[in-house]
Amino acid sequence: MGTDEIREKYLDFFKKKGHIEITPSPLVIDSDPTTLFTSSGMQQLAPYLKGEKHSKGKKLVDIQPSIRMQDLDEVADNRHFSFFEMLGNWSLGDYFKKDQLGFVWEFYTKELGLPPEKLYVSVFGGGGGVPKDTESFEIWKKIGVSESHIHFYDAEKNWWSRAGTPDQMPPGEIGGPDSEIFYEFDSVDHRSEFGKFCHPNCDCGKFLEIGNSVFMQYQKTENGELIELPQKNVDFGGGLERIAAAILDDPDVFHIDMFSGIIKKIEKETGIEYNSDSIKDKSFRIIADHLRTSVNLLSEGVIPGSKLHGYALRRLIRRSMFHFHLLGSGISGGAISHMAEDYRRFYPNVDKNWELVEENLTSEATRFEAALKRGLAKLTKSVSEGKVINGEFAFDLYQTEGFPLELTMEILKQNGIVFSTEEKNAFESEFEKHKESSRSASAGMFKGGLAEASVVTTKLHTATHLLHAALRQVLGEHVGQKGSHITPERLRFDFSHAQKLTDEEMDRVEGLINLKIKENLQVTPKAMSLDQAIKEGAMHFFAEKYGNEVKVYIIGDPNGIWFSKEVCGGPHVDHTGEIGGVKITKQEKIGSGIIRIYATLG
Ligand code: ALA
Repeated sequence: MGTDEIREKYLDFFKKKGHIEITPSPLVIDSDPTTLFTSSGMQQLAPYLKGEKHSKGKKLVDIQPSIRMQDLDEVADNRHFSFFEMLGNWSLGDYFKKDQLGFVWEFYTKELGLPPEKLYVSVFGGGGGVPKDTESFEIWKKIGVSESHIHFYDAEKNWWSRAGTPDQMPPGEIGGPDSEIFYEFDSVDHRSEFGKFCHPNCDCGKFLEIGNSVFMQYQKTENGELIELPQKNVDFGGGLERIAAAILDDPDVFHIDMFSGIIKKIEKETGIEYNSDSIKDKSFRIIADHLRTSVNLLSEGVIPGSKLHGYALRRLIRRSMFHFHLLGSGISGGAISHMAEDYRRFYPNVDKNWELVEENLTSEATRFEAALKRGLAKLTKSVSEGKVINGEFAFDLYQTEGFPLELTMEILKQNGIVFSTEEKNAFESEFEKHKESSRSASAGMFKGGLAEASVVTTKLHTATHLLHAALRQVLGEHVGQKGSHITPERLRFDFSHAQKLTDEEMDRVEGLINLKIKENLQVTPKAMSLDQAIKEGAMHFFAEKYGNEVKVYIIGDPNGIWFSKEVCGGPHVDHTGEIGGVKITKQEKIGSGIIRIYATLG
């Protein structure tokens, strides 16, 4: 069964069970300063899990493309990805454990036809003041799962929140015990190695987690306690790619349809066969995975750069280039784009934006290819001369050739050289000194998660609306939002326009924004249907992700003359005067017909 069919079956199954399909979030959530990438389906639903009413009801389903970049090294095994598609279904205070576990079982065994005897489940064993989940245990037994296939684990394994275990949850965050489902591969026999210690949650690869039902029921208070949410929710997530592998009964998820084309292309380019050498297999997987994530990010307008999203993307592209070198064959920027083009078949958004994707992938890869050659030569020479490769040397490589530390470390590892923690620290302190750190800019963000939305970012949100309206007034109605991102330091706004702004246009845009700030206009949120919002002339870029019931923010007189009217989730200031002032700091052309502007408060 191919991935297309699994997607379709999943959506159909849950629709038949009364769920409404919602639109997944983009990978980069514009206007959310608290998270780098969408990493799970529940992210857009957090307010509704806490009790807010969702316009589409209490039973929802979607398929959410997600990015998890915490540990890129894991990608080299046969079942981890930096990008994956999460099948998700939710009960917002509607059904709970009994129905959910029943749905999971029915979908996996009946719809997908997975043999029940190959499936194992896990249940929360208690901890953090929350009792053992004997209810789920009983439900699984009633469903027909034998006791030997039901395993209890503590909060490290069987608790889910965006921040981790109950102890790791910050005040306000929600989470709960979960129940996972695993597929057992008979072909992986690690029992001899792990003996009786191998179990569903063992990392040896014999068992593959293919679904997780979170009973999202708790919230952390300011004084560190867990309290019950006003409603009992279900948050389910299952990895599409892994499910496809379970159906194939193949422990190597890179054998599924989505990867077969690119793996073949890598084989052709390098003359090496996949599955002929376990070390080389790792490079195959890293290239296939990283290019898939890269094209999806590029298709949303993310551009390789030195900070935040751009830096994450740059790392992915550079790592794929490096792994081509490890396979003994360098690769040109153009060839890498040709290879990645295979993913157009699977991702409509990549296909639609291919020109932008190709342009930026090729140019980043081309630039790095030359640097990689120089850097490798420098490093190899120093290693062969027996020179000490220390933190300073690694930093020099980073500065001159753009080698991320992990790349230097990987090359050294290939040469049997271990980079010590002290040297790593030395690199980091050089890094800090030069203030190039993307990490410093992303400090305060959780691994996949969230942080305090501050007063500053609220001001920047409203400033973004002013900028958008001002650009349309000065440049014309063709200006449309292509992307937006806010950090506590600045706003970033991408929009359609053929060329960079002239100094005069820039002054007029900035002047208009600051005039509207001086006028201290009222900012009014108004709930209405999306159709009504469009009728009233509200800007609605990415509106599809808001559902039918939307919030429109009006800057100016909501019943008279207004300056900006835009569909948005907020938060915003009450009056524009609170912003103080806005300064445009930089503009760049990031693709054909797309201009990016950075602005700060002040
Ligand atoms: N939100 C849960 C997860 O990401 C389902 O695993």
